Amino acid sequence: MTYLIRPMQISDIRQVMHIERRSFSMPWPSFVYVHEINHNQDAYMGVIEIVQSGESEEKRLGLSRLWTREAHSHTPLAAYGGIWMDGDEGHISTIASAPDYRGQGFGELMLIALIGRALSMQRKRIVLEVRTSNEVAQKLYFKYQFKIFNTRYEYYPDNQEDAYFMVLDGIDEAYTQMLGERIAAFRDKVEFSDSYSGFIDA
Ligand SMILES: CC(C)(COP(=O)(O)OP(=O)(O)OC[C@H]1O[C@@H](n2cnc3c(N)ncnc32)[C@H](O)[C@@H]1OP(=O)(O)O)[C@@H](O)C(=O)NCCC(=O)NCCS
Repeated sequence: MTYLIRPMQISDIRQVMHIERRSFSMPWPSFVYVHEINHNQDAYMGVIEIVQSGESEEKRLGLSRLWTREAHSHTPLAAYGGIWMDGDEGHISTIASAPDYRGQGFGELMLIALIGRALSMQRKRIVLEVRTSNEVAQKLYFKYQFKIFNTRYEYYPDNQEDAYFMVLDGIDEAYTQMLGERIAAFRDKVEFSDSYSGFIDA
């Protein structure tokens, strides 16, 4: 199995929604993804696609041209995420890994790709909101040196849960070197290429 980190396409939305509904109590409707991909020029949506081994990029693209729209929309994904370039900062808008792929590093690889996307666009401050009960995601963000900046009370309308507003700033050479080492550690375990972040394969 190899993995391809690449920009999200409209044909991914069906699979994204499959993961989205299993990941969030307030899933984004599919039209939001259409907007983020086609209309929001500040949004950079990415996916980690699962490519069966032995399937070359050339063959895969050739096959996808032959596939029906239905079949193409089932391109399997391990994770996806998005980031808005908002002034001089990046704002992570969403991130999820497929339930069957959790605990295997794909959420982390997606986060590195999102951070890398911001860095390759000269954003050195990255922010996000996370539910105060979402300890798994918080642990991931702490691992990448995000800090809780403040609490946004009753931020989530479904259950009036608070959000932590988390910030990563002061990204320096030591931080990018740490990212490089983590990427190398992933490469020892799984084969992947990246056409999304402008950072991982740069
Ligand atoms: C949050 C999420 C993206 C993490 O992705 P994942 O693929 O499960 O996580 P990974 O295997 O990449 O693990 C990376 C880090 O996340 C944290 N983590 C992952 N699973 C964890 C668990 N069960 N308990 C505690 N921490 C956990 C750890 O810090 C881990 O690093 P470590 O292996 O060195 O301990 C994933 O759980 C998910 O999609 N959750 C639902 C959607 C969501 O909550 N998104 C965040 C919105 S703010």
